[in-house]
Amino acid sequence: MKLRIAVLEGDGIGPEVTREAVSVLTALAGFYGFDFRIEPRPIGGAAIRAEGTPLPRATLDACLESDAVLLGAVGGPQFDALPADQRPEAGLLALRRALGGFANLRPAICYPAITDCSPLRREVVEGADLLVVRELLGGLYFSEPRGFDGANRESAYNTMRYSVQEIERIARVAFDLARTRRRKVTSVDKANVLETSQLWRQVVTRVAREYSDVILEHAYVDSCALRLVTLPTSFDVILTENLFGDILSDEAAAIPGSLGMLASATIGGTVALYEPVHGSAPDIAGQNIANPLGAIATVAMLLRYTGRNDHAARDLEVAIGDVLAAGFRTRDLVRRHRLTPSCFLVSTSEMGARVRQALADVIDQRHAYHAV
Ligand code: IPM
Ligand code: MN
Repeated sequence: MKLRIAVLEGDGIGPEVTREAVSVLTALAGFYGFDFRIEPRPIGGAAIRAEGTPLPRATLDACLESDAVLLGAVGGPQFDALPADQRPEAGLLALRRALGGFANLRPAICYPAITDCSPLRREVVEGADLLVVRELLGGLYFSEPRGFDGANRESAYNTMRYSVQEIERIARVAFDLARTRRRKVTSVDKANVLETSQLWRQVVTRVAREYSDVILEHAYVDSCALRLVTLPTSFDVILTENLFGDILSDEAAAIPGSLGMLASATIGGTVALYEPVHGSAPDIAGQNIANPLGAIATVAMLLRYTGRNDHAARDLEVAIGDVLAAGFRTRDLVRRHRLTPSCFLVSTSEMGARVRQALADVIDQRHAYHAV
């Protein structure tokens, strides 16, 4: 595997978790002989400070010339007063649009070792393993017209628009992925109220006919939101539009028990974009306490979707599970500040080091197995 990877650490905890993700990439290169060329570039608030814009041209060019983009997080309270189009988030949205990836994959898994980290009861969450397929380039985030009306902004408006073609292409991604999993798609909409959702339901139903081996069900977004925390094991693939997917994927963090665990990949464009779901978490930035496992699991997705090496991706995912099984926990995984016996509180960098060690062990064990 030979990849050129643009690394955009961004803001808040972005740099510290991304550092661990990059160390894992370097370790992978050593273990498997992969060749990764890492190109660090500024984005978000960091880029505003350095260059006065959240997505400098040189950053965008480096991303477009890469095989993959690995991003930390953007945003922070010090930028909240800026006009919307100059905020760190505007840089991320412009990057998403320029890279063209329309399918944002956000898995939420209940790791057996941290079942008790979930605020949900063990019997509810045990065995949950779902994938949110979020449409990323349409809906309220990007549709026109949008804006404010009146000299004193007496009103504001956004547009939720979806074309048949946009719905078809995201639906196909969801059905294709369901075929690699438990063959069930839950399409989430608000078809009892919204025209975009009525079209969404119609088109998804039509696409489903090409996939007679996959079960399709429809759910309203409000009832889906409840079911996510009452019966999460009833989902396999959740297919939904941009804003619903934004909200439901954060809610899905209740399954592993921390937003810090969630990874994501955005595919379907010219260059795939990999970013943990958690955001910049400015309140804990710079303290070496953030959970790097979401960023590290994001590297596993990069190996799988850009590197097309499921084997290495799985080794890394096994290593993450092993580190959790060995009892290592960042602070976000300690419920009500009570560390259970046989668990150890670790820092961001220590957690990264533990994963690299576990990865080495996973690979060693396989070699030992093959040697007998
Ligand atoms: C996410 C984030 C972004 C989004 C923000 C930072 C623009 O919340 O990736 O979920 O809304 O898509
Ligand atoms: Mn979000």
